[in-house]
Amino acid sequence: MDINVADGKTLLVDGPASVTLVSGKAEVFGYTLRNMEKVVIRDGKRMPFFVMEPATFKVALGENANLEEVDGNTIPPSWDKAYKELSTIRSKPALALVLGTADSGKTSFCTYMVNRLLNDKQKVAILDGDLGQSDVGPPCTLAYAFVSRHITDLFNLEAKNAYFVGVTSPSRAVDKAIQGLTLLKNEIMGGDLDFVIVNTDGWVEGEDAVNYKVRLIEQIEPSIIYCIRQDEKLKPLMDAVKSFPTVIVDSPQTIKQRSRDKRRSLRELGYIKYLKNSKVQSIPMSWLKVESEEVMVPSKNFLGKRREREIYSMLGMKPLYMVELRDKVYVVIGKNRWISPENVIKTEEILGKKVVITFKGDEKGLLLALYNDEKKFLGIGVLKEIDYGRKVVKIFTPVSSGISIVIFGKVRLDENLKEVMSPTIEESFKPP
Ligand SMILES: Nc1ncnc2c1ncn2[C@@H]1O[C@H](COP(=O)(O)OP(=O)(O)O)[C@@H](O)[C@H]1O
Ligand SMILES: [Mg+2]
Repeated sequence: MDINVADGKTLLVDGPASVTLVSGKAEVFGYTLRNMEKVVIRDGKRMPFFVMEPATFKVALGENANLEEVDGNTIPPSWDKAYKELSTIRSKPALALVLGTADSGKTSFCTYMVNRLLNDKQKVAILDGDLGQSDVGPPCTLAYAFVSRHITDLFNLEAKNAYFVGVTSPSRAVDKAIQGLTLLKNEIMGGDLDFVIVNTDGWVEGEDAVNYKVRLIEQIEPSIIYCIRQDEKLKPLMDAVKSFPTVIVDSPQTIKQRSRDKRRSLRELGYIKYLKNSKVQSIPMSWLKVESEEVMVPSKNFLGKRREREIYSMLGMKPLYMVELRDKVYVVIGKNRWISPENVIKTEEILGKKVVITFKGDEKGLLLALYNDEKKFLGIGVLKEIDYGRKVVKIFTPVSSGISIVIFGKVRLDENLKEVMSPTIEESFKPP
């Protein structure tokens, strides 16, 4: 379908859709489109095409896609001002951090800043600190990318390096998220760059959220902080960061709010992207270091036969697998096996350790991160099975070699790479 739009107007397109500029002049988030360039808008995303010279677009709309024409430019004037301010910073690389609630326009603002910087031939990197709605790396990871060409969607960037946190919100892993962002920031700052744009997640309300952001800012030490003001929700955070160089910018009026479900399905596009061309890899446990819950768990069982038998008799059964650590004992039992709760309590008393019971099969679907022996992030995977008999771990992943460390996430995916809602997972499954 061809659509003509007059200059001075904006064509808003809700994905899934694709838009090709056939003639005229238009820009998306600060980037002037090339003639015949095709822009893909993902499901759950909206893109504003601001028309500078009467334009004709070829538009293909997918299911539930939508199209709307509005007057003027939907990019707030404060964004242009914000860019001009950024471009005056002389100390390089200059680091700009973006704060805002969910759906306030953080990603779009980052995209806009990146494009404007590229217009001025600056060397730019983006550090993506949003775990739940990650643009750059896989979901549940922090990641960065160097940006050498204009972009309409940060999702199309290839991550240069990533840090797996394993959850969709930093509220569940504050220290890890800060550690990861600091690590990646230091790595980026070593490169030859003029500007680094740091995006953050939308967790901004409440004391914990404010503390997290303040701690993050203290670690990252941005040259400038942009607060995207949408409503009063950001006020306490803005007050808390007043002592830092802060600039308030507006949230676009035409922004599209997403439901929780939409956010999840956008995230699932991320799993699909980073699990494309996956195969099931069977890796001997003895080759791997398995890291779960900050603990490095030995993949070999160092329990002596006698000690093993002692614990079996306390439990009143022989489990499939068992590991004894300093403060706990992990026990894996068959799916339909039963273990007497009294025996577990008795065992805990005798050993003075917590006994963590896991059922075989509970591991299925857990999101994993795979690293090489130098702790370089290789990619993500989904745990298919731990075969305790053969002592192999079966992982669905596109990573085909070099896996040496496996880090367990808390998110679980089903066969179709959809997130499984499982509130009990943290309690019920601790991998061995
Ligand atoms: N100026 C604008 N006009 C229309 N839609 C916009 C504009 N800015 C952002 N959007 C859309 O609104 C949605 C939310 O913006 P996004 O940048 O993803 O927010 P956040 O990263 O804060 O969650 C996205 O689909 C985005 O493309
Ligand atoms: Mg975003």
